[in-house]
Amino acid sequence: MNALLETTALTRHFPLRLPGGLFGRPGLLRAVDGVSFALPAGKTLGLVGESGCGKSTTARLVLGLMAPTSGAVRFEGEPVPARRGPAWRALRRRMQMVYQDPMSALDRRLPVVTQVAEPLLVFGQGSAPERLERARDLMASVGLTPHLFERYPHELSGGQRQRVVLARALILQPSLLVCDEPISALDVSIQAQVINLLLDVQARFGVAFLFISHDLKVVRQVSDEVAVMYLGRIVEQGGPDDLFHRPAHPYTQALVSAIPSPWRRDGMRRIVLEGDPPSPTDVPDGCAFHPRCAQAMAVCRERRPELAQIGGGRRAACHLLTPVAADTTEATPC
Ligand SMILES: Nc1ncnc2c1ncn2[C@@H]1O[C@H](COP(=O)(O)OP(=O)(O)OP(=O)(O)O)[C@@H](O)[C@H]1O
Ligand SMILES: [Mg+2]
Repeated sequence: MNALLETTALTRHFPLRLPGGLFGRPGLLRAVDGVSFALPAGKTLGLVGESGCGKSTTARLVLGLMAPTSGAVRFEGEPVPARRGPAWRALRRRMQMVYQDPMSALDRRLPVVTQVAEPLLVFGQGSAPERLERARDLMASVGLTPHLFERYPHELSGGQRQRVVLARALILQPSLLVCDEPISALDVSIQAQVINLLLDVQARFGVAFLFISHDLKVVRQVSDEVAVMYLGRIVEQGGPDDLFHRPAHPYTQALVSAIPSPWRRDGMRRIVLEGDPPSPTDVPDGCAFHPRCAQAMAVCRERRPELAQIGGGRRAACHLLTPVAADTTEATPC
């Protein structure tokens, strides 16, 4: 399989001290707990799920910003090397990140064109005039007008700043952009512009996206494949149209039922999940979703369902669904 990015049983646990005793008792927070997926070049994998389910930790693991507890990440066929070494720095040219808050990604003291050109300087590419010319070209191609080039970040709007961040991320011609809530901090009227820009950038530069967002409508619009996470694990994965029209896992059904019509399936009523999401320091036995699942059976309390092919290119981890393939561990490409 020719995946640009592939994770295999990716896991990150954080040791911590839980309340109890004089100094607390040792505990383990299972932020990411066995995530396998494959993202082909030029495609988009959307990652959705409630706050704290492990989306950003998955992003950090993918970029090598954090070491996994176990499992592996392969990028362009090679294991992602340890952070900060020369091999990691060389690889980071090819994988870039776009964060939620563009202001925090920019230096307030420098004109934005200087910041867009900076990665070329860091990697020793071109002369100073060549770097600036390349930065200006790229800024124009993401919809920034020349009168903005010499401005400082605080002089730009949120949407303009996110365009600057995008130009900076693209200048080294990466093959992967990890976008962690890239539009959440933007005004609603600007969100659509930035989404269209991302789609345009993908079509022109062939860059793949790992796209993290709370906004299921946006994820549906931009993704070739969507993975739904619950308490550190993927519970369902499939093509966006299929997954949003016929969600198979009860958790996906609840998420989709909360999207305003017309995305809601005909006759599907809003499913209000009972109880709070369990803590990743105290993941329930069996299926982690069973305490909130209206359809839970005895087996759901006892045995954890594995992510398995359920037909139509869809994977789900649920005892209510019948697997169609024996191999439950292989990552499915978008
Ligand atoms: N460095 C860390 N040390 C300890 N716990 C951490 C660390 N980083 C993340 N966590 C915990 O791991 C879990 C997953 O966090 P993560 O940031 O990946 O969630 P998320 O899905 O991105 O949430 P959100 O949608 O709110 O951004 C959370 O319970 C979080 O508190
Ligand atoms: Mg996050």
